[in-house]
Amino acid sequence: EKSGFQHFMLKEIHEQPQALQNLMRGRVDGGKAPIKLGGLSHCEKDLLAVKRIVVIACGTSWHAGLVGEYMLEELARIPVEVEYASEFRYRNPIIEKDTLVMAISQSGETADTLAAMREAKNKGAKVLAICNVVGSSIAREADAGIYLHIGPEIGVASTKAFTAQVAAFYLFALHILLLRHKTDPKVPEMITAINSIPGKIQKILDREEEIREMADAYKDKNHALYLGRGFNYPVALEGALKLKEISYIHAQGYPAAEMKHGPIALIDENMPVIVIATKDATYGKILNNIEEVKSRKGRVIAIATEGDEQIQGKADHVVYIPDAPAVLTPLLSVIPLQLLAYHMAVMRGCNVDKPRNLAKSVTVE
Ligand code: F6R
Repeated sequence: EKSGFQHFMLKEIHEQPQALQNLMRGRVDGGKAPIKLGGLSHCEKDLLAVKRIVVIACGTSWHAGLVGEYMLEELARIPVEVEYASEFRYRNPIIEKDTLVMAISQSGETADTLAAMREAKNKGAKVLAICNVVGSSIAREADAGIYLHIGPEIGVASTKAFTAQVAAFYLFALHILLLRHKTDPKVPEMITAINSIPGKIQKILDREEEIREMADAYKDKNHALYLGRGFNYPVALEGALKLKEISYIHAQGYPAAEMKHGPIALIDENMPVIVIATKDATYGKILNNIEEVKSRKGRVIAIATEGDEQIQGKADHVVYIPDAPAVLTPLLSVIPLQLLAYHMAVMRGCNVDKPRNLAKSVTVE
């Protein structure tokens, strides 16, 4: 059932191009608007009225929510807050008439997310769920929903669910945009852009051997720092989470500009720094961050845009990813980080599919 892969996690990493195609099938077919999201068809009026969105989730799903925040704000211009489900519940959250709550959960059974969602409903919020497991508690109790349709995720470390959740947010943002503006000249291009993502992910997966060799060079380190900005800041958090949960290497993700406010004190020759340095608005700033790390003898792995030669001379290792609009780069930049975590963990002899102390769905609060 692992289709020839050594672990479910690796199988699921490799399934991502297909998983995203499954997610998009019937929803953005033929590159034409509207976006068809069946689970939302009965609440279009409510969606039109939404003035604020609160996303609740845990772990990797929370990271997907952070990418979703940037997407919804950029594409649909709706203010979004992303909360840890466990915190949301206990702080007497403010829910107004036009607040939409979105619960994000692969399993649909995470106790903290379920409890937060019930709390939101008690306060009168409409809840929209993004879930993978059909018929799960969160999916059943939500007022509306988007299923991922990506098949079961068995490896404890979430991989294909993350990319699918991010893609679902993108479709949702386009859907809202179209509900509000009927047509938008940018939309066909945006649909073409997401349709090209599965092929681009495949190109990165084809470079796995390169990433495995890199993992070998860093597998004995005890710490790692992940940096990214904008849409790639949540990806830095996600890369660090992947590494720590399966390889037990201490890792932290930061928005790159925050490095100088503290973490820079940690940098020496034993601190690998993984920097997402794709060609976008903050590229120049990120190059400065890389130089700051290098001048303190840190080792830099850069995730860069194909064709960027300038970065070669600055970083110790460069992994190239295909070019894409900034809002969609998380779907690409996360792939090398998943593979890096996977190979480092395997080389360290860890049980990647069932890391110690973790369960696939956390049904205790
Ligand atoms: C990380 C991981 C966990 C889950 C979290 C939420 O790889 O698997 O952090 O993302 O427990 O789970 P769901 O999405 O099922 O609510």
